[in-house]
Amino acid sequence: MVSEFDDYEFEDRYDQMADDALYRQHGRMVNQVNRTRGRGQSRKEEVASLVEENDLIEDFVPTYAAKLDPKHHERKWVIGSLQGFWVDKIISDVLYQAKVGKEANVYACVGGDASEYDLIAAKLYRPRMFRHLRNDAAYKIGRTTHNREGKKIRKNSGVERAMKKKSVFGQRLEFSNWIGHEFRMQKMLWDAGADVPEPIAHTGNAILMAFWGDKTIPAATLSDVRLDPAEAQPLFDKIMQNVQLMLSLNHVHGDLSAYNILYWQQDVTIIDFPQMVDATVNPNAETFLQRDIQRVVDYFAPLGVSADADGIAIELWRDFLNGRL
Ligand SMILES: Nc1ncnc2c1ncn2[C@@H]1O[C@H](COP(=O)(O)OP(=O)(O)OP(=O)(O)O)[C@@H](O)[C@H]1O
Ligand SMILES: [Mg+2]
Repeated sequence: MVSEFDDYEFEDRYDQMADDALYRQHGRMVNQVNRTRGRGQSRKEEVASLVEENDLIEDFVPTYAAKLDPKHHERKWVIGSLQGFWVDKIISDVLYQAKVGKEANVYACVGGDASEYDLIAAKLYRPRMFRHLRNDAAYKIGRTTHNREGKKIRKNSGVERAMKKKSVFGQRLEFSNWIGHEFRMQKMLWDAGADVPEPIAHTGNAILMAFWGDKTIPAATLSDVRLDPAEAQPLFDKIMQNVQLMLSLNHVHGDLSAYNILYWQQDVTIIDFPQMVDATVNPNAETFLQRDIQRVVDYFAPLGVSADADGIAIELWRDFLNGRL
């Protein structure tokens, strides 16, 4: 079997982990390695040695990582990404890999003393996601840019220019901005009472949230479930109420479908928010809204739920424009 973490991908992942470790260590994202590099040592060697010697906490050997070879890339990646949460007692263990997504892996973790949850989902972004970012220009219109502390970044600041130039520094910023945006969106929805997993914390390439599933299996996505027709209508209504709630908060999910809805014990929750758009400024918002609703309607139609996607979208959009939501 070809490892999902092949050597080709490893370079990038490892760099990300190293930079995150350096960031935590030094408290800023500047290229510290250049200043600490020994003679004749390449940047990569220096980064690798720093991570290995100083940054992977030896005591943190989660159940899932223990099953992997100590040299396995995924093991280092999981430990490196999550050890900060372990130190802070937000998680106490990583049990299993729940899903390998296009851009991120999700792991089932045990909540630590500092957490109210028994199980926590850790969504770990792969650094290479930047090469696959879903055509994100269309989503980003009108989005405020935030720095690592969540403060808004001034227009045309050096930081914004770095992001535009796609320097390493700029890419790191864009990465943390993307994750910060996802976290803020999920938090806004949770605070408003939407059906989303409660977001718990985020740092570096990781977002922690309430886990859907149990100690042995994760919740399925709706796309993998054959619903009983009797439960279809109420679940459809619930999802549409959430679409309406999001719009009342001026937002459109932007990637809603049966793939981004989890199903567990007859209930649903909506996930995956990095591409959420602000409907007050994004000219594509109405199109995204229509598409989101269409995909949900298409999923439920064979289960006997009859709904007119265009009609629902037009009505919702009109109410939104008239301030009636
Ligand atoms: N809170 C959670 N509890 C349990 N499983 C989760 C949770 N969040 C995500 N997952 C699982 O991880 C998968 C990937 O999550 P998500 O959709 O947020 O990331 P993604 O990288 O966009 O993935 P994809 O590209 O496959 O949509 C989900 O399809 C789901 O199976
Ligand atoms: Mg997804």
